Amino acid sequence: QSLLPKGYTFRSLRRSDYKLGHLDVLADLAHIGDISEAEWTERFDYLAKCGGTYFVLVIVEAGDNEYEEKRIIGTGTLVVERKFLFKLGIQGHIEDIGIKADQQGKGLGIKMLNALDSIAKDVGCYKTILDCSAKNEGFYVKCGYEKAGTEMQHYF
Ligand code: ACO
Repeated sequence: QSLLPKGYTFRSLRRSDYKLGHLDVLADLAHIGDISEAEWTERFDYLAKCGGTYFVLVIVEAGDNEYEEKRIIGTGTLVVERKFLFKLGIQGHIEDIGIKADQQGKGLGIKMLNALDSIAKDVGCYKTILDCSAKNEGFYVKCGYEKAGTEMQHYF
């Protein structure tokens, strides 16, 4: 928290964050489609029920009054996978990292990754992995990641 510049706060995603622009941040990352507040809330409730599995963080920009939240300007997710392999190893998956276009380049993205990695360590993950496009490789290297494996996909 103290590592963020003044006027920005880290916290977990809240049930009221549809109104604070959570989807606007994700829209800069990939196609979203039309999602109503009710649909968003249903998904939020589902994730919340899977205790200890989904950790969604947001960075919130303060308004004129520092206690007022103006908008969400960054987000990132850690999904915790509990394996049988590696003596019941726990592996973290980093997903959906996004910093609003007008806020990029201020060191917020790397802080988001550090925060998610720190949660991963706290819950016992032995490593975190992620998929990204070639243009973001340099960013993840700066975050301490190294290239490994080949990504495969199968659309349905
Ligand atoms: N390539 C190489 N280096 C980069 C890149 C890049 N694409 N982006 C940032 N960096 C470097 C910065 O120069 C900085 O280096 P420095 O410490 O030497 O000055 C360092 O990485 C940290 O940069 P930040 O300012 O923390 O990065 P930012 O806040 O701009 O966030 C991010 C980076 C998340 C990639 C942002 O540009 C973004 O949201 N892009 C659009 C959405 C996106 O592509 N998200 C990633 C999807 S992959 C996934 O979610 C697993």
